[in-house]
Amino acid sequence: MKRYLVTGAAGFIGANFLKYLLKKYEEDIYVVVLDKLTYAGNLGTIKDEIADSRVRFVKGDIRNAELVANIFAETDIDYVVNFAAESHVDRSIANPQLFLETNILGTQNMLDCARKAWYRGKDSEGKPLYAEGKKFLQVSTDEVYGDLALDDPARFTEETPYRPSSPYSSTKASSDLLVRAWHRTFGVRATISNCSNNYGPYQHVEKFIPRQVTNILCGMRPRLYGDGLNVRDWIHTEDHSAAVWEILTRGRIGETYLVGADGERSNIEVLRAILRAFGLPEDDFDWVRDRPGHDRRYAIDPTKLRRELGWEPRHTDFIEGLDQTIAWYRDNEDWWRPAKEATEARYAAQGQ
Ligand code: NAD
Ligand code: DAU
Repeated sequence: MKRYLVTGAAGFIGANFLKYLLKKYEEDIYVVVLDKLTYAGNLGTIKDEIADSRVRFVKGDIRNAELVANIFAETDIDYVVNFAAESHVDRSIANPQLFLETNILGTQNMLDCARKAWYRGKDSEGKPLYAEGKKFLQVSTDEVYGDLALDDPARFTEETPYRPSSPYSSTKASSDLLVRAWHRTFGVRATISNCSNNYGPYQHVEKFIPRQVTNILCGMRPRLYGDGLNVRDWIHTEDHSAAVWEILTRGRIGETYLVGADGERSNIEVLRAILRAFGLPEDDFDWVRDRPGHDRRYAIDPTKLRRELGWEPRHTDFIEGLDQTIAWYRDNEDWWRPAKEATEARYAAQGQ
């Protein structure tokens, strides 16, 4: 039986991963969920999962050394999947400090606790030995690579140099570098996945697609930053979950894998698709103040993941996935409504 420690599983991607994992394994699994339940964490998202006898929910901070060490002491954890992070670029511009604390120091604490728990002494050459089969997966982002020009034929690969632009992406880049250092220096059995923009159910209403969809559902106009031509590379969150599982169970230790589903689209294109789905005119939105330092384009080359691990996205029709996501927000107003007003008040104060 595999024992997982999944951090940040009350958030968007972590929750979708937890659901994926419990369905995939049926009986043969035990999962400890560690989540601080920040504004982005919603226990309601995983209420069925935490009622499952295979899951233990711990409310707490990934920076809490004693708490995380106790989790390792109580449960012989095989796999750590570190989703927990401050994840929103606009918030990182308003309050960078929190991003440094959670994303950098939190990752360092998770790595140190895994290192201590999995350490099994030294080999004859003095190199550290760790328990077999253990693995730490750092869930990261394509934003560590900075941005591309709209007409650049290149896409990001595992060899692209790090060039983050926002406080958020610079802290994610820092945490990736810590993972690499803990692997190289201490021998910690770790891998990194860098994924593009996720969409799907349970995403916070501050993010682009849920914000526009719930604005329309509330009778408000969608809001587009800048000139609307910025490009994001969209992937359904279920495809990200499948990739995380493949990388965790079969990826090579010390390696980085890029996750993307060939989903490049400009923001205005996505917004027009949302407006069409509601039967609204294509210009029924407001232009608002641009994000400072706004990255122009992200694009992932997922060749390594596909070739080495045989991963393929299942949600290849973006409009179909978008329509299902819109239907989910239409049907689950109870889930998103409590966060909507405060989110819009924040944006209004920023001129967005
Ligand atoms: P999210 O903001 O929806 O959820 C983050 C979760 O982490 C929340 O449940 C929150 O309560 C928890 N958390 C925050 N600080 C914590 C702390 N100090 N201790 C414990 N728990 C804490 O984020 P998301 O969009 O689901 O992203 C999850 C991860 O995936 C992040 O690491 C993010 O950088 C990465 N990622 C996201 C995307 C995307 O498109 N959303 C793409 C690639 C990578
Ligand atoms: O690329 C992966 C990243 O994708 C993740 O690492 C981040 O955690 C995740 O938040 C996401 O970052 P983005 O900044 O790309 O996502 P966001 O949803 O904030 O914005 C997507 C695009 O839409 C971006 O170009 C800004 C624009 N935008 C956003 C909002 C909220 C708008 O035009 N209007 C809006 O109201």
